[in-house]
Parts: sequence; C-alpha cells; structure tokens
Amino acid sequence: MTISKIKEMKKAGKKIAMLTAYDYETAKTLNEAGIDIILIGDSLGMVKLGQENTLDVTVHDIIYHCKAVKRGNSGALLVADMPFIPQHKKNIEVLKDAKCMIEHGGADAVKIEVGITSQCCYGKDTKAVTSMAPKTTDSVLKIIELLLKNNIPVMGHIGLTPQYLEQLGGYKVQGRDDKTASELLATARLLEATGVFSLVIECIPPSLAKQITGSLSIPTIGIGAGVECDGQVLVIDDILGLCSRIKPKFVKQYINLKPQILDAVKQYVKEVKERKFPGEENTYN
Ligand code: KIV
Repeated sequence: MTISKIKEMKKAGKKIAMLTAYDYETAKTLNEAGIDIILIGDSLGMVKLGQENTLDVTVHDIIYHCKAVKRGNSGALLVADMPFIPQHKKNIEVLKDAKCMIEHGGADAVKIEVGITSQCCYGKDTKAVTSMAPKTTDSVLKIIELLLKNNIPVMGHIGLTPQYLEQLGGYKVQGRDDKTASELLATARLLEATGVFSLVIECIPPSLAKQITGSLSIPTIGIGAGVECDGQVLVIDDILGLCSRIKPKFVKQYINLKPQILDAVKQYVKEVKERKFPGEENTYN
C-alpha cells in the first residue's frame, strides 16, 4: 500500500480499513486479513503500557513498537503517531522526531493531532498551561508544513483529539454546535491545503463527517464519525475484547478474547499445581 493508492481509493469509492497494531504478530495477522493502513497509535500508552492517558507516550516508545510492527508487515501502509507536542518544544526537534520514526521505526508517514484552538479552554487550568499545554492550531500547522517540506508524509487528526483531552473538557462528541462544526470544517480544509494526505476525524456527528468528507479530495478516516467517511479506524485491542477500559459507543467488539485467555491461563496454573503439566508429550525422553 502506498500513499497514492490510499488517495486513489477515495476517488474509486473504495473504503479504507485501518487498525492499530503495536507488535509483530498482530501486524502479520492484520496483513493476512487485508488491512490497508496500520497505525502505531499513541493509544499504545493506554492499551499496552497501562498509562492513564496518551500524554506520556514517547517518541522512543513509538519507534520501538513501530519496528516490531514493521517486521510483521508485508503490505499495509505504516503510520506512526506523533506523541504529544508540548508548547515549549521546538519545531526542529519535532522534525527530528518525525525523521527518526521514519528512518529508524520504519513508518511510511506520521499522524499528528490538531486541536482546534478556540474549542480548547487554554488558560482555564494553569497547571495544564505551564507544564502540559499543547501547541495551538497555527503552530501545529507550521510543524506539518515543515515536515512536508522535508518529504515526511503527514496524516492529520481532528475532532476528539485525545492529546487535547484536558483542553476539550474530557471525552465528548465534538462539533455539535454550529460554531465548532464550522471550525472543524475550516481546519479540515486548511489541513488539506497544507498537504496532509488523509485525515482522521474522531467522535463528531455523522452529518458533519459527511460534510467534511464531501468537501475534501483527500480521504477521511473516521472513528466514531459514522459510515460516510472514506475509511474507518479502531484500536485493535478494542475490537478483540482485550481492553479493560470503558468501551466507547463507537467501538464494535468482534470477539471477546479476554475471558478465553483467562480460562486458558487458569487451566495452565491448575495443571502446574496438580503436576499435570508438562505431560509425556511435552517432555524430552
Ligand atoms: O492512537 C490511536 O490509536 C489513534 C486512533 C484511535 C485514531 O489515534
């Protein structure tokens, strides 16, 4: 899969299937199933590293997992998530990080979250402003321009952007009122004009997602944004039933693996305790 093929899929009316992966075996399985794009998402922090949110995920974490995914990947486009960019971070450092994710991690592109400045309550929480304040929309657009100038393909991400959770006031559907809806539409157009090759739109009303999708020539990938987007993305652990976090409405759990894993492990523990494992068949004579 290539970026131009992803763009062509929109023109041909073919839907794009994207999922996250963080390791080798999962990447292999996703390829066998015909996935178009694999995202090494910063959801990694919450689903694999036991962190409270996505803010503590580092570039090193993403590269480490991206390398593993790359080893298992045969045909999907690999997109690596750019971890949270604090306000004080220099653009040149972000460029260096993005280059590392491509050159060392093996990603084909990076994804960057863009918070909508006026949606965010900057300044409401002083702690957030001094230590964990994110970049404003304009600053992120400048970073994207810099990355593109350096031949690093970028996927945008708007709507409920988890890196801006505190500024957005928590997990809430975005763009419900006219003002924020038109701001999201304007930002989507701005991102297309800047040169992103596709756009993740998270947790917005389906009518707005349809409007954004219809007004862009680049593909939109929805998550909690209805069926009219050009593609869909979900977190792999959510669709497999491996997550103990709260399940948002937009998640479809295709299988519930956790109880099956629990049963298997319980059985193993029991057999070890009862000296039933290893049996003859697992022993070298
Ligand atoms: O980090 C992630 O997994 C994501 C997707 C859910 C879009 O950003």
